[in-house]
Amino acid sequence: MWSSRLLFVLAATGSAVGLGNIWKFPYITGENGGGAFVLVYLICIAAIGIPVMIAEVLMGRAGRQSPINTLRTLVRDSGTSSFWTLIGWMGVLAGFLILSYYAVIAGWAVSYVFRLGGGAFVGADGELSSGIFNDFLANPWEVLLWHSLFMVATIIIVARGVVRGLQVAVRWLMPILLVLLIGLVGYAAVYGDFAAGVAFLFSFDASKLSWAGTLTAMGHAFFTLSLGMGAIMAYGAYLQSNTSISSTVITIGTLDTVVALAAGLAIFPIVFAVEGLAPGEGPGLMFQTLPIAFGNLPGGTVLGALFFLLVSFAAITSAISLTEPALTYLVERYNAKRSRVAISLGSFCWLLGIGTVLSFNTWADAKLFGLTFFEVVDYLSYKVMLPLGGMLIALFAGWVLSKQTVVDQLGFEDGMKWTLWRTGIAFAAPAGIVIVFVYTIYQSFG
Ligand code: TRP
Repeated sequence: MWSSRLLFVLAATGSAVGLGNIWKFPYITGENGGGAFVLVYLICIAAIGIPVMIAEVLMGRAGRQSPINTLRTLVRDSGTSSFWTLIGWMGVLAGFLILSYYAVIAGWAVSYVFRLGGGAFVGADGELSSGIFNDFLANPWEVLLWHSLFMVATIIIVARGVVRGLQVAVRWLMPILLVLLIGLVGYAAVYGDFAAGVAFLFSFDASKLSWAGTLTAMGHAFFTLSLGMGAIMAYGAYLQSNTSISSTVITIGTLDTVVALAAGLAIFPIVFAVEGLAPGEGPGLMFQTLPIAFGNLPGGTVLGALFFLLVSFAAITSAISLTEPALTYLVERYNAKRSRVAISLGSFCWLLGIGTVLSFNTWADAKLFGLTFFEVVDYLSYKVMLPLGGMLIALFAGWVLSKQTVVDQLGFEDGMKWTLWRTGIAFAAPAGIVIVFVYTIYQSFG
């Protein structure tokens, strides 16, 4: 059991705030043209993300086991088809796929702690910064080294049990990360082209909107809130019975959104002020922009190293939650030791991650449907499995679970809050997901 509501908020926020906010959100915003994408993303967070997160927490607390066994219990109690346990199984697979590449990118961040600390970016411009990044990625052994280091660290924390280490880390590190991020926004405001950055993020240009971009925004809403695969369900299983789920979830969603927008405001003004950088840079965006700021800032060597250290911590508190559904299930199923399961799961995941390591060098030209190995794994998990998982969760919580179970968990059964919840979970979320899926397929193949 989490020792307080605050600790649940911290753990769930630790899971939510990660590479998704600081690395992924800016680069997919850049690739999808800015403001219109951001608006769709915010709508997806509010109309789909928040209701699905409430559903995950309430299902987790109602079942109080690993997601797979929680679903089995809920299916039994409501006398429906065991089809719904698919949510749990697909979540285990999605978590596995995501962690395989998440650990690789987190490894990049860890290596940047040392690069910045070593002064590699002092006085850097766009060309130097991009050069350092591209040289780094071209060397698979070096990337593999940092990837392995990150995976080992994750396995150690997971093996020792989440609660003590994780809670302490999250309680101290998240606020520092936020402060540093806001400091970087300040730097971007003074030295970058802040007006261009803000305009890019917040000006709405409907012509830049596509269904493929909308699917990305929706996938990202799930990813950034850690939804669709049972991670939050697993955390909800340890939540005390008297904590209000709805207000807690809204707090978590707000914190996560603030961090993502701050990252965008730190990165895009630099992109527009520095020659040789473009918003559509792709996965390297954060690694090429922020070091320029640090390289030209008094004390930037230390601050830069600290910043990437905190990004690495944010990544590890997320990585842990990606293993949680599979881990708790295997522990329950085989009555196995947590540490054993953590090592085996982590090793398999590490092995799969090598494909992502090579996607940026040796295998860069090996493509399936025009996508590299990394992009295939990313596409499957991020744009297919998470939204699909989220939709099944919404349908289950909205239409299958008995009203009594839901009311017991939420603590209200009429009024404004109830109407909002019903509309979100039973209608907006499933319909929104289906519409985005159908139109994306239509647009890609039609
Ligand atoms: N939310 C994390 C991020 O933004 C990533 C993450 C952690 C995640 N656990 C998850 C994504 C579960 C999907 C599902 O970096």
